[in-house]
Amino acid sequence: MAAMKNIVILISGRGSNMEAVVRAAQAEQWPARIAAVISNKADAKGLEFAAAHGIPTAVVSNKDYPSREAFDAALQEVIDGFNPDLVVLAGFMRILTPGFVSHYENRMLNIHPSLLPLFPGLHTHEQALASGQATHGATVHFVTAELDHGPLVDQVSVPVLPGDTAEVLAARVLEQEWVMYPRAIRWFVEGRLRVEDGKVNIDRN
Ligand code: GRF
Repeated sequence: MAAMKNIVILISGRGSNMEAVVRAAQAEQWPARIAAVISNKADAKGLEFAAAHGIPTAVVSNKDYPSREAFDAALQEVIDGFNPDLVVLAGFMRILTPGFVSHYENRMLNIHPSLLPLFPGLHTHEQALASGQATHGATVHFVTAELDHGPLVDQVSVPVLPGDTAEVLAARVLEQEWVMYPRAIRWFVEGRLRVEDGKVNIDRN
């Protein structure tokens, strides 16, 4: 049997995607362990779920560091203490420095709540509504130095329906994120994702 892979998940808040990953890893018996859940906010709700499931947790507060570089260096040290094969950003609300990103090149994934390249950044659901999109969705991608860019792994789309508010639309997207993100992470831990020339190849066999 192939060696177990270590996954480190970074959150800043609710952590519902992290929860979906933890549950899928357990239920589907992935060849991987969630080695740690790390937050930049001590009060991130998701830390409670992780701790309750016996997952080591850590807080590295960006407020304790004078610069992005200093924070990212401290965060990297904590992450690397868990020997990660994969770093999973799950609602981690920080812009990352190029040095940090390149350290985890081809082994750091993010989920973003829009059909990239549409609507990078914040307030994606509001933007989708304001610009009159008929469909909206979410994207899983490898992280590169440019915010919400990088090789696409998977996308899911949902309809925008009459009367949608940003909250209703966000909830519709989120429910699909909980399916798509664990599946993409599973592909990674099973060694089915390859990044070649900035494109992701998926071995679906
Ligand atoms: C999700 O919509 C995710 O796409 C975005 O931030 C949100 C995090 O939600 N990056 P949660 O913390 O996983 O519940």
